[in-house]
Amino acid sequence: MSVPARERSPRPAGGEIPLPDAAFRAIAARIHALTGIVLRDHKRQMVSTRLGRRLRALGLADYDSYLALLDGPQGAAETVELINALTTNLTSFFREAHHFADLRAAVIAPRIAARAGRLRIWSAGCSTGEEPYSIQMTMLEAGALDRPWDYRLLATDLDSAVLARAEAGVYAADRLAGVPPALRAGAFRARPDGSFEVVPALKAAVRFRRLNLLDPWPFRGPFDAIFCRNVLIYFDAATKAALVDRFAEMLTPDGTLYLGHSESLLGDHPRLRPCGRTIYRRRA
Ligand SMILES: C[S@@+](CC[C@H](N)C(=O)[O-])C[C@H]1O[C@@H](n2cnc3c(N)ncnc32)[C@H](O)[C@@H]1O
Repeated sequence: MSVPARERSPRPAGGEIPLPDAAFRAIAARIHALTGIVLRDHKRQMVSTRLGRRLRALGLADYDSYLALLDGPQGAAETVELINALTTNLTSFFREAHHFADLRAAVIAPRIAARAGRLRIWSAGCSTGEEPYSIQMTMLEAGALDRPWDYRLLATDLDSAVLARAEAGVYAADRLAGVPPALRAGAFRARPDGSFEVVPALKAAVRFRRLNLLDPWPFRGPFDAIFCRNVLIYFDAATKAALVDRFAEMLTPDGTLYLGHSESLLGDHPRLRPCGRTIYRRRA
């Protein structure tokens, strides 16, 4: 006797779609090849939760269908969604505040004093924008935004969804917790719905671009400061080491590299000398 379709379905609507071992490994291998991100076994539940949402949105019943979609004519567009779903975008304003104090004292102030004509900063892995706008608030505080100099802040991320939010620069009120009260009025304007938007004067010098750090970089720099914080932790040792070498080559002779709190360089680096907690300056 045939079983009615309703009873055949083992999965209640909205329930978890089982992620078989082979599918997890296939997805992890793809993500590693595409982004450098390593998805070890303990990330399996995270992958299942995030991609399960994606499968339900697409109306797919299982991961074999999803892998077939990735290999089909819509594969390129779906790969962007896959990457967006599996990146981790946790961030906040003035995260690791000592980096912004160093930026002001050791990068911005000396260049103002030397009447430098050019300043370039790169926020690599900028997520939803809190990092580049914290840099902009540091520039504002230092009186560096009004100077007649050639200043640009490049803000890049692989995840197109977070990048769109960064470019919009709109944040819920509770996201502003890390912003020193003295800076809030100059940096944000209140919106009727209770959220806050970064003011145009802070947005003006920022260029948001989608960039996979593993790909060739379509610019020459050099940068006076590069922030690449809480990005390298997702990569394997060889990818991390190769990226740090590339960042070192992209710095001005006295340029500074800021890494995340758990990303200190182990051992000596031929081009970078440690200058405080996860702060490295290019060796002369
Ligand atoms: C945890 S967030 C860090 C945000 C910010 N830098 C901070 O420290 O608060 C890591 C960011 O790195 C980005 N990312 C991961 N792999 C990347 C890659 N291969 N190329 C560029 N960005 C990548 C993610 O999309 C994510 O937005």
